[in-house]
Amino acid sequence: MKKRLEGKVVCITGAGRGLGRALAERFSAEGASLVLGARTTPEIDELARTLGDAIAVQTDVRSANDCHRLVDAAMAEYERLDVMINNAGLAIYGPVDTLSENDIDVMIDTNVKGVIHGSIAAFKVMKAQRSGLIVNISSIAGKLHLPNEAVYGATKWAVNGFTGTLRLEAAAYDVKVTSVCPGGIDTPFWRAMDYYPFPDHIDPARDFMKPEEVAESVLEIALKSDRYVVPELVMVPLIPPR
Ligand SMILES: NC(=O)c1ccc[n+]([C@@H]2O[C@H](COP(=O)([O-])OP(=O)(O)OC[C@H]3O[C@@H](n4cnc5c(N)ncnc54)[C@H](OP(=O)(O)O)[C@@H]3O)[C@@H](O)[C@H]2O)c1
Repeated sequence: MKKRLEGKVVCITGAGRGLGRALAERFSAEGASLVLGARTTPEIDELARTLGDAIAVQTDVRSANDCHRLVDAAMAEYERLDVMINNAGLAIYGPVDTLSENDIDVMIDTNVKGVIHGSIAAFKVMKAQRSGLIVNISSIAGKLHLPNEAVYGATKWAVNGFTGTLRLEAAAYDVKVTSVCPGGIDTPFWRAMDYYPFPDHIDPARDFMKPEEVAESVLEIALKSDRYVVPELVMVPLIPPR
């Protein structure tokens, strides 16, 4: 079957594990060249080797400079940037008054400022190119009010607010911007949790969406006509009552 993204360059933050890794594998399978960013270099180096047509750039999205270096690396290697997926993110859940100042800072710096830095770095290139798609990975927590997710939810509401406005500004330059708001995904995200925000009967491995399913939906957005934009994708798992 013909690969649909040959000649396209896709940059993904948080590409070492979880959804970011699934996105990298899916876009690579369609022939795209990949630029992979995350802090843990062995993970992205190994993934770049596995994918073949890919480079890995150590990136901490909390740093604007790192996000610009990531996009600069894409331009140096491939001379264009077609899709930027700002995926890196994390959650520290719990009753709001139990969160430390550092917990709050790390979520805001990673989830909000990381998306803003990555979006601006990509937009500067895409604006000059007069084409491109920026996909910001938000969450269903950015659409609802979920107990014990106050700060995480606030970061994802912020991502949706920023993304919606960037979409309107970017349209003048033929650049498309989409916010993706998934419910639970079965990734390593859930393994490091000190506080699990769901009832015990919910099991991520059994009940949540697979990262490959979300990656497929993001790919579908990237394959759409240049004549229209998908402002937002919301997708949630079907969790049967138990
Ligand atoms: N899993 C879910 O149920 C779910 C649901 C809705 C939305 N989301 C969102 O989906 C995105 C991906 O989550 P996931 O489930 O795939 O999480 P994950 O399995 O924990 O993977 C997170 C990735 O982000 C990277 N990352 C974290 N902080 C970073 C930083 N400062 N700079 C660069 N990279 C960083 C991590 O790599 P390093 O640690 O090596 O940097 C890792 O590769 C997040 O934005 C999350 O909020 C997840």
